[in-house]
Amino acid sequence: MSQAQTSNEANRVIIFDTTLRDGEQSPGCSMNLEEKLRIAHLLDEMGVDVIEAGFPIASKGDWEAVNEISKILKNSIVCGLSRATKKDIEASASALEPAARKRIHTFISTSPLHMQYKLQMSPEAVLEKVAESVTFARGFTNDVEWSAEDGSRTEDDFLCQCVETAIKCGATTINIPDTVGYSVPEEYAAQITMLMNRVPNIDKARLSVHCHNDLGLAVANSLAGVQAGARQIECTINGIGERAGNAALEEIIMAIRTRNDKAPFHNNIDTTMLTKASKILSTTIGFKVQPNKAIVGANAFAHESGIHQDGMLKHAQTYEIMTPESVGLTESNLVLGKHSGRHALSDKVKDLGYDIGDNAFQDFFKRFKDLADKKKEIFDEDIIALIDDEVGRDHEKIKFKSLQIISGTTGPQTADICLEIDGVEECKKIEGNGSVDAIFKAIRAIVPHEGATLQLYQVSAVTGGTDAQAEVTVRLEEDGKTVTGQGADADTLISSARAYVHALNKLMIKREKTAPTD
Ligand code: KIV
Ligand code: ZN
Repeated sequence: MSQAQTSNEANRVIIFDTTLRDGEQSPGCSMNLEEKLRIAHLLDEMGVDVIEAGFPIASKGDWEAVNEISKILKNSIVCGLSRATKKDIEASASALEPAARKRIHTFISTSPLHMQYKLQMSPEAVLEKVAESVTFARGFTNDVEWSAEDGSRTEDDFLCQCVETAIKCGATTINIPDTVGYSVPEEYAAQITMLMNRVPNIDKARLSVHCHNDLGLAVANSLAGVQAGARQIECTINGIGERAGNAALEEIIMAIRTRNDKAPFHNNIDTTMLTKASKILSTTIGFKVQPNKAIVGANAFAHESGIHQDGMLKHAQTYEIMTPESVGLTESNLVLGKHSGRHALSDKVKDLGYDIGDNAFQDFFKRFKDLADKKKEIFDEDIIALIDDEVGRDHEKIKFKSLQIISGTTGPQTADICLEIDGVEECKKIEGNGSVDAIFKAIRAIVPHEGATLQLYQVSAVTGGTDAQAEVTVRLEEDGKTVTGQGADADTLISSARAYVHALNKLMIKREKTAPTD
């Protein structure tokens, strides 16, 4: 191998995406199987090296998602998370069984605080568990990752002992999470350096960083860890994750690309897919991206002030450190209109990264035509919103059929709604405190679900203009579990009804799937 190749290989950073595990397990971010498969496809296509697809022991739904993702991925390694127990590791191993390339990820807490209060275990017992769990996981695959939960608050001597043991027992990746987002870049880098210098067998494994964003330092800490010698970064799309989230994949990737003079690392990510990935995830889970979010926020490439605009016209680099095209941001495309045919729509759908089956496409085409009758110009965003509203819903138990509203200043506002439940149509006419309240009350009257509470009702315009589609997100919570539904229509109230019904269908599925596996 030439010197250039060696240094190239030495500077290769593995991108480990945990959107479907650490991201998905945070409140309001849950996804159903179909949604997880779509995101997994996207990550695979984008060039993510490792996709952490779930926590198989956590629920039937998680096991199934890891298993189904394992069946379809072509390039990425599929990873399942497990605590340091045989049952957890067996669940990951069985779920990952069909994967062409698989990884078992096992973890245990190593900080004094976590060992004493959370685990109530002595350091010696934890060390034994490290050896036991990694050895057991290696019985299923050669690719085993071990994580020291709350690693950044772990004492150096004990962390070194744990890491050395994990590597001895066969771990090929060692992950040091900043679980509570407490570290600062200099300190986190020093910890990675310390491990590189003190653990005798460290050359047999790849060090990995996993940073939470409680102090807004997740990306900075991750990059500092890589500068110090780590060669895997764990991150999520849009930075979703527990509490303040995880390090954002798009920010890490663009920082490495834009400042390659200071961060001379390389990876496999196709940066032109970053915007699409962000949009699709945010629509799927109903989490809006803040407008000023780096890389993927609506304002990330907008230049409002006169001075900036003047500079940009003279030379783009005066105020632009990366091009919108490099992250896949193009002008909102005017794509289709009322004269567009099936072919054009089908091509557009494929172009946007969706795969709609033939049957679903017939209904989808009809919805598209209805929309085109109401809205002159149809943009990419309209198509995505419509896909999210329509596709995959033909098998749903509860279907939205029709809605009539009486509204206005004199009130009372009344909703007359019809749903179809298992093929039988039921209608209710109910008054409410406003039209949306009346709609939701009517749905509750048809399908009682007293245990569920409304956590979020959010409306946004898909594009500009008064004829824009309204995209509504509804989040319901029951027994600590949340589901998110979306609806899109040129009429905000119809979108609201659709979104609520969508969430309700997901709630039914969630009830069926959350029975524990043991
Ligand atoms: O933040 C954390 O410590 C984790 C581990 C389970 C890897 O997510
Ligand atoms: Zn985490």
